[in-house]
Amino acid sequence: MTVRSNICAMAGYVPGEQLNDPDITKLNTNENPYPPSPRVFEAIRTALTPNSLRKYPQPLGDTFRKTAGRVLNVDPDGILIGNGSDDILTILTRTFVPEGGLIASPIPSYILYRSLAEIQGAQFLSVRFSADWRTLDSWAAQANLTFLPNPNSPSGTIVDPETVTRLAKALAPAPLVLDEAYADFTSWSGLELLSSTPNLIITRTLSKSYSLAGIRFGFAIAAPELVRELAKVKDSYNCDVLSLAAATAAVEDQDYFHEVRAKIIATRVRMTQELTELGFDVLPSHANFVWCRRSDRPVKPIYEELKRRKILVRYMNYAAGPLGAPEGAYDGLRISVGTDAEIDTLLSALKAIL
Ligand SMILES: Cc1ncc(COP(=O)(O)O)c(C=O)c1O
Repeated sequence: MTVRSNICAMAGYVPGEQLNDPDITKLNTNENPYPPSPRVFEAIRTALTPNSLRKYPQPLGDTFRKTAGRVLNVDPDGILIGNGSDDILTILTRTFVPEGGLIASPIPSYILYRSLAEIQGAQFLSVRFSADWRTLDSWAAQANLTFLPNPNSPSGTIVDPETVTRLAKALAPAPLVLDEAYADFTSWSGLELLSSTPNLIITRTLSKSYSLAGIRFGFAIAAPELVRELAKVKDSYNCDVLSLAAATAAVEDQDYFHEVRAKIIATRVRMTQELTELGFDVLPSHANFVWCRRSDRPVKPIYEELKRRKILVRYMNYAAGPLGAPEGAYDGLRISVGTDAEIDTLLSALKAIL
């Protein structure tokens, strides 16, 4: 069969393990440990009627766009809905990157960006973070599309507004995508730069801060005239009637959102401190996970032993670390913020292992 050669050549993106064992303490894919807002369940029940299932959903998600526009104080016409933010990242790639084009992103960061380049038949350029993870040098001004996760995964670090503005200016008119999957867990968002930075596109997900990874819902925020172009590329009905109802209800319930967010941030502070006391080098995190390394021993055996004890964290191994890290592979454990009880389980296992 005539599968495109770039597809045959690529390894394919490997998502974090989703083991089907209810006894697992699952701290590997940055899901929210708390349930979604009760209003989400109500909204799904209300939406679950023979008529709503029989009919196509709103193609552009106008009800969601109106609600999110109000909550985030952005123009609803500047919102594009997606089946998870990964869907949005795919739409952006298909919109901006020709075959043989160039996608750039930092390293270490979200590994899906490389797969998107490979699927598109594009070149991919990794740019190393500075040693303090706060800046990026030597960007390819010729990139058709640049992804910058902020906060970054796996480090949980952020770059500041000045750096984002400088980078966007250097790349213009090509777009800079600020992947804000974790922005709800930190103090600033690129939303404040949108009006002054026309080539900035922001992507968000409801998988993390709104506890809806299973529903698959994400969105982009950009200039309305750009969103009109992006809408031509997406599947006509990329979000179903139940996910639209769930997402709208989740975003409407800001009190619940703030309550869950505060709990996660409090546990993140405790985790960071206790893991540091156990000898891990833990970067200060602005996300719902922490990045842990050790100078005294390899971390892969720790990941394996935790897994044997039914505690799943994510072992990540990159081709390069930030500048200043020793040349060659750079690895560590990315541990999601769980409930306090889950983190107690993790910490006692670590105490036994180390
Ligand atoms: C940086 C980053 N962007 C995007 C995503 C995708 O999120 P979604 O569940 O909305 O597809 C993830 C998921 O882990 C992520 O870490």
